[in-house]
Amino acid sequence: MIVVDDEVIGAIQFDEENDPMYRHAGIDVFITAARHGQGLGSDAVRTLARFLIEERGHHRLTIDPAVDNERAIRAYRRVGFREVGVMREYERGTDGIWHDGLLMEMLAGDFTDE
Ligand SMILES: CC(C)(COP(=O)(O)OP(=O)(O)OC[C@H]1O[C@@H](n2cnc3c(N)ncnc32)[C@H](O)[C@@H]1OP(=O)(O)O)[C@@H](O)C(=O)NCCC(=O)NCCS
Repeated sequence: MIVVDDEVIGAIQFDEENDPMYRHAGIDVFITAARHGQGLGSDAVRTLARFLIEERGHHRLTIDPAVDNERAIRAYRRVGFREVGVMREYERGTDGIWHDGLLMEMLAGDFTDE
């Protein structure tokens, strides 16, 4: 949970690939709409990314917003993620249609602390 002033305003989670040849972690996050654009999403991603690099020993992290999710892409760039490429028809929306996703990755050396 992401908590601000005793209010739950979102959630963040990670998954890990632990095969030694491909080890990395992926992040998912959402913030309630009323709190978008206040720096909270990038702060939460930065906090979890720091944990995954420093405590879990990951050298590479991924995150995969929709290609048209400009707010998310900008928030993740702030932390150090870079665009890798478009994953076509990656995610099925509530409209039942497959939408493209953007694969972003960050190596430990790209991490941007504040
Ligand atoms: C994506 C999400 C986690 C980002 O969190 P946030 O707290 O809103 O993001 P931040 O405030 O940290 O950063 C937002 C960035 O987008 C910019 N931004 C704000 N409103 C915007 C808009 N309407 N369009 C485009 N960019 C916008 C901000 O200026 C900031 O960029 P900057 O640092 O370069 O100025 C959050 O918006 C969210 O939960 N969205 C819905 C769920 C979702 O899309 N999850 C992502 C799944 S990968």
